[in-house]
Amino acid sequence: MSKQNLQEIDTNEYPHLNRGLEGIVAFSTSKSSIDGQKGELIYSGYNIDTLAENATFEEVCFLLWNDRLPDKSELNHLKERLIAERNVPEPVLNYIKNTNKEAEPMAVLRTATSMLADFPPEKSNDQISDFQNQAIALTAQMPIIVAAFDRARNGKSIVPPLDHGSTAFNFLYMLNGDEPGEQAEKVMDLCLILHAEHGMNASTFTARTICSTESDIYSAIAGAIGALKGPLHGGANTAVMNMLLNLERKGKDADPVQFTLDKLEKKEKIMGFGHRVYKTFDPRAFHLRKMSKALSEETGYQTLNKWSESILKTMKDEKNIDPNVDFFSATVYYSIGIKPDLYTCIFSMSRVSGWTAHFLEQAANNRLIRPRALYTGEKNLEWVPVDQR
Ligand code: ACO
Repeated sequence: MSKQNLQEIDTNEYPHLNRGLEGIVAFSTSKSSIDGQKGELIYSGYNIDTLAENATFEEVCFLLWNDRLPDKSELNHLKERLIAERNVPEPVLNYIKNTNKEAEPMAVLRTATSMLADFPPEKSNDQISDFQNQAIALTAQMPIIVAAFDRARNGKSIVPPLDHGSTAFNFLYMLNGDEPGEQAEKVMDLCLILHAEHGMNASTFTARTICSTESDIYSAIAGAIGALKGPLHGGANTAVMNMLLNLERKGKDADPVQFTLDKLEKKEKIMGFGHRVYKTFDPRAFHLRKMSKALSEETGYQTLNKWSESILKTMKDEKNIDPNVDFFSATVYYSIGIKPDLYTCIFSMSRVSGWTAHFLEQAANNRLIRPRALYTGEKNLEWVPVDQR
């Protein structure tokens, strides 16, 4: 439909048509606040910079699920529960072992997460506490699915989970078969913190919409994984790394500035830039940029880091567009040896905390989500029998 036709629509009947739902406030939430002008992100009261400097991922999970930080014994209890739930049922592991080795890891994560619905934690007679237990189980099990699929697709045996250590530590251990060093664990933990929650993004909106029909939490998380997978959302981190690796393949002809200018000239998007809400630097990208620089110096990936900085400068100069969370997370993961097609899975392993927090919030005060669509077709056409069309 042309813009002109859209203007002819009766605005009394359809007062709020809004492409991409930009600026629409669909929910109230205590989980996070984003100030797109200031570049500020708050999780349940705490600035992301404060959390990045002080928290662990497990503390952030507790914060998002309870709207307050845990005391020592509550934190230990949550850690124990997350460890106790580190078991993926045999039929799900069999699927992971037997599925197509070429399958997209995000597709495998989506399917395996959906299968977990058949093996939930023991149920009580209180639905909200069942949801809370399921949120803990999902947060514990998703990293195991990701690590297990990566091992299986490479013909390696699946490493059993540890009965100790943080989510970040256990994930890297199960992925590589060796216990990670302190720095790798810290990097992974910080990445999990930075990706945990982010307002009414497409995947969280999907999870809340599914919750609003009184469906189950596994359906909501499987749906959210599907929404996150796309390159306009969480899939951008994999796309960023592929972009940099394609540039690397050009050898001495690699020119990140010209590459960026050529893409802009063709009106193509540069992955990892732009955001619906931030009109300035994404605060998460500050931390990831710092980490990417430090890691690149240690691992010898300075060229990738230098190119990232050149692309950033060109985007700022040409379009005044800043990077989002996905731009520098790509080189951070690459520097700690993670394959590019797993990056969005790591995003999911973290964001499951935010998705489930929103699910719990929606379930506690639900109303069916049911917007309207603007019909642009004709009405009451005359029926023509099939042999006369
Ligand atoms: N590269 C080049 N130009 C861009 C980019 C980009 N990455 N992002 C936005 N623009 C330009 C658009 O071309 C458009 O320009 P125009 O007005 O001259 O046509 C203008 O900025 C507005 O862009 P929209 O696409 O309309 O902005 P919208 O809010 O709909 O989209 C989105 C936001 C999807 C994130 C977009 O910036 C984008 O596609 N970025 C690349 C993909 C990406 O990095 N996604 C991850 C986002 S963060 C996350 O979800 C975890």
